[in-house]
Amino acid sequence: MPRPVPGQFVMVESAGGGLPFWRRAFSVAGFGAGEESCWLDLMIREVGPGTAFWRGVPEGTGTRVLGPLGNGFPLEEPPRSVALVAGGIGLPPLLYAARELAGAGTRCDLFVGAATAEELIDPEGCARVAADTGGVLVPCTDDGTAGEAGLVTGAVERRLRDGAAWSELWACGPNPMLRAVAELGRAYGLPALLAMEERMACGLGVCLGCVVPTPDGGHLRVCTEGPVLRGDAVDWEAL
Ligand SMILES: Cc1cc2nc3c(=O)[nH]c(=O)nc-3n(C[C@H](O)[C@H](O)[C@H](O)COP(=O)(O)OP(=O)(O)OC[C@H]3O[C@@H](n4cnc5c(N)ncnc54)[C@H](O)[C@@H]3O)c2cc1C
Ligand code: FES
Repeated sequence: MPRPVPGQFVMVESAGGGLPFWRRAFSVAGFGAGEESCWLDLMIREVGPGTAFWRGVPEGTGTRVLGPLGNGFPLEEPPRSVALVAGGIGLPPLLYAARELAGAGTRCDLFVGAATAEELIDPEGCARVAADTGGVLVPCTDDGTAGEAGLVTGAVERRLRDGAAWSELWACGPNPMLRAVAELGRAYGLPALLAMEERMACGLGVCLGCVVPTPDGGHLRVCTEGPVLRGDAVDWEAL
């Protein structure tokens, strides 16, 4: 497998080709390669049969993986500094991006939002990854049980209001959060790059199950034209 770009994803089959029939999409959270093999780091939140399948599967179980798919964040021209904004299980592509940017001279401030303290994923590990780029972790919880209380986009906005000088905003999470990041980008004149997670069947641009509306009345396929789309490329009202 070629080295995935952060933001790219893989379509994973349930081991043995069993149910559910369709592969499920997961963002790449990490990657490494040896001489004859490679490994992928995936983080999976259980929401239904395709994600529950992996709970308790014995180590060493084989499966088929299609990818890497889609575009990714533009690492070939890394920004000077970036706010990475993750909502819930939107964390994996941003964590991978920060790991890949360590040493590239890009400061990554990592904003992570979750409903409660228990749902924050590995805060110590996230803080280390951000620190490796010269940045900080800003955890936020809806109920205030850890980090800053309230929406993660509120924490980003407060810093922008106080003069934070990021070159770009990158985000992954639920659509209302992505829309809020797109609006912050517009308000503060910053490019907002959003890794979207529409439901996918093929992951290859064929089924049109993942399309999102564009402001000119057209559509973009998240699996092939995305999943990383500019905030102003999406018609958020029509989504
Ligand atoms: C590009 C991309 C990257 C993704 N990366 C990750 C990841 O790194 N880790 C992870 O845990 N999940 C990720 N997802 C979401 C993951 O693909 C779904 O959670 C999974 O397909 C659900 O399968 P299931 O059989 O468990 O649940 P289903 O029975 O298919 O669905 C259960 C519930 O989850 C909702 N749901 C399913 N898929 C999505 C989706 N894509 N967006 C919003 N709601 C959904 C359904 O509406 C339903 O309410 C990603 C999705 C995409 C498109
Ligand atoms: S998932 Fe089939 S076209 Fe995007």
